[in-house]
Amino acid sequence: MNDIDRATQSVMDAHENAKNDPSRPQFHLLPPSMWMNDPNGLIYYNNKYHLFYQHNPFRAKWGPMYWGHAESSDLIHWTHLQIALAPDKKKGEKYCFSGCCVDDDGIPTILYTSIHSLLNVLYGGQTWIATSDSDLIEWRRNPNNPIMKNSMHNITIRHWRDPYVWKENNVWYMVMGGQLTQPKRGAVFLYTSTDLYHWVYKGIFSEGDPNIHKKPWECPNLLKWDNNAVLIISPMDKVQFSLVNLKQEYTNSSEWFIFDHGREFYAPQAIKHPHNEEKYLLWGWIKGGGIQDQWNGCFSIPRELELIDNRLKITPSSSITQLRHHHRHFINQSAICNLHDGCGELILKIPQDVSFTIDIYQNPKNKFSIIYHPKSNSFIMGKEITEYHSLQEEITLHIFIDRSVIEAFFNYQECFTTRFYPLSYTDISIDCKVPGTELLSLDVWDLSGIINNYASK
Ligand code: FRU
Repeated sequence: MNDIDRATQSVMDAHENAKNDPSRPQFHLLPPSMWMNDPNGLIYYNNKYHLFYQHNPFRAKWGPMYWGHAESSDLIHWTHLQIALAPDKKKGEKYCFSGCCVDDDGIPTILYTSIHSLLNVLYGGQTWIATSDSDLIEWRRNPNNPIMKNSMHNITIRHWRDPYVWKENNVWYMVMGGQLTQPKRGAVFLYTSTDLYHWVYKGIFSEGDPNIHKKPWECPNLLKWDNNAVLIISPMDKVQFSLVNLKQEYTNSSEWFIFDHGREFYAPQAIKHPHNEEKYLLWGWIKGGGIQDQWNGCFSIPRELELIDNRLKITPSSSITQLRHHHRHFINQSAICNLHDGCGELILKIPQDVSFTIDIYQNPKNKFSIIYHPKSNSFIMGKEITEYHSLQEEITLHIFIDRSVIEAFFNYQECFTTRFYPLSYTDISIDCKVPGTELLSLDVWDLSGIINNYASK
């Protein structure tokens, strides 16, 4: 057995136990078992979405990093494929860190950060390249790896990693994350290439204020709408984004917004939406495991991003609507209903100036509450308090509950991802109260699970 077969086997062996964990999400994508973190190498290729991810196939904990792999043509039916990348031990590689996948004139090509020892993670990250045939199953590393080394810079960069690549007018562009020193601050670096294999360092694309952004910036994404762009960073804290005007070269973004107010959401990656030029599709990593220690981490549901009047609009992908069943509609001051299997979707619409509470529980003694206070413009979700920025007159709160995972969208401008662990996941109550006024409307659906297949070799 080679390393990839051994790893794939290990994940499949633990699958049955992982699958039976009642807290395991049903319509969020996750590996058959064991650990995942960042989404990697997202690509739509030959009419299929391929998602790769940081994966430890041997334990439900972070460890040696492989790349897991799943594909789908509709974002609902997924096939888990054999592990795509295992560390190339012969070349001294111990971890295949995060990266991306692009279509190089028909050749699927992965660019990722290769780490040879955790001791040199500060300065030793290298960029490696691997290619595959059109099924994206078997990956061959380029004999000339590394194609980029930290020594290519004229400045000191720590934690240099996580390439994100796109093409424009026959030129390849890359942003990479890291940390500048003296004083320490997170930063994003820009590179260009004409062939994807030889890269030129163009300079610092964006750097943090050392008083606010001391830590490294990981997994940068640059999403473009003509001359406007959105730079997303994972700064070892809540994921943030800034709006960048590309007419001014290497603009330093001063204003940062929270992309998701939940601490369990991290390291998202986005690709151009294959069916809508104006949109990107994004997946993040939702942290945390189950009751049984056989799995840890899942993908967020796919989110669609649009830039409208210089504001980022974030909506759940419409593919999820295919999972809906058992619709209920309420117009009242209060509503109480049940999610039979702990999986469902809620859309609540109310005027902006009224407060409301939504309690989610299996037993009222262990409630997860979402509370809105219009006077202080704040949302409370579980233990997190969030300032609310929307100027709209009506609030739409769109919530997905998937066993132990909760993902919420406020007016499609702010997101909140968190975890919730009741004692059991059958008959979860949703108790919605809008005191002293007419609740505009509440729609509730139960949701089925996505369909997972497991490819055999
Ligand atoms: C972000 C991150 C990346 C790195 C990967 C390692 O969660 O730390 O910077 O490439 O995870 O698993």
